[in-house]
Amino acid sequence: MKELILASNNAHKVEEIKSILSDYNILTLKDINFTDEIIEDGLTFEENALIKARTISKYSGKTAIADDSGLSVELLEGRPGVYSARYSKEQTDAKNIEKVLSELDGKKSKAKFVSVIALVKPDGTELTFRGECHGEIISEQRGNNGFGYDPIFYVPSLEKTFAELSSDEKNSISHRKESLEKFSKFLKEENNEN
Ligand code: IMP
Repeated sequence: MKELILASNNAHKVEEIKSILSDYNILTLKDINFTDEIIEDGLTFEENALIKARTISKYSGKTAIADDSGLSVELLEGRPGVYSARYSKEQTDAKNIEKVLSELDGKKSKAKFVSVIALVKPDGTELTFRGECHGEIISEQRGNNGFGYDPIFYVPSLEKTFAELSSDEKNSISHRKESLEKFSKFLKEENNEN
C-alpha cells in the first residue's frame, strides 16, 4: 500500500481524509513524531496548505500532503476564510460559530466551504488541488455530527446541515471530497505514467 504523510493532527480531518483516500496508508504528524507548531501565515488556503506540506516534506524527506480549509461567508465578505480555525478569541468550534452568527445578526447568507490539498515532494514539486461545497449559513444550529461550522452550514438540496449528515453522506459531497478526488486522480495518472 502506498504511503503518504499528512501534515495534520486534526482528528476530524484525518478521519475524513483516511476514509476518502482509503487506498493509501496515511501517516499523521504523531506517527512521524513531529511536535513543532507550524505557523500558517499565508493569506490564501493554497499558501497555508503549501506551508504545512513543505515543512513536513522537508522534515521527513518524503512526500507530504496537507489540507487547508475553511468557511467563506458571502455577507461577511469571505470571512472567516483562512482564519476559520481561529476566528474567535477562544478558538473553539462553539465560539467560532457564535461569532459568525452574531456578525450575521439573524440574516441568512450564501456560503462555501473550501478545501485545498497541497502536495510537496522532496524533489521540490509543489501542487495544489481545490474543492468547494456551496450552501447557506442558517441562524440556528442543527445536528450533532461532524466538526467546526457543520451545525450552521445548510445544504438546500438535502434540506440538512452538514452536522445532520452521516459521515458517509458528508464525505460524498464535501469540499474535502472534491479536493481529494482531484488529488487522487492526479496520483493515479502519475502512477500510470511511471
Ligand atoms: P485549518 O486546520 O487551518 O485548515 O482550519 C480549518 C478550519 O476550518 C476548521 O477548524 C473548521 O473551523 C473549518 N472547517 C474546515 N473544514 C470544515 C468542515 O468540513 N466542516 C466544518 N468546519 C470546517
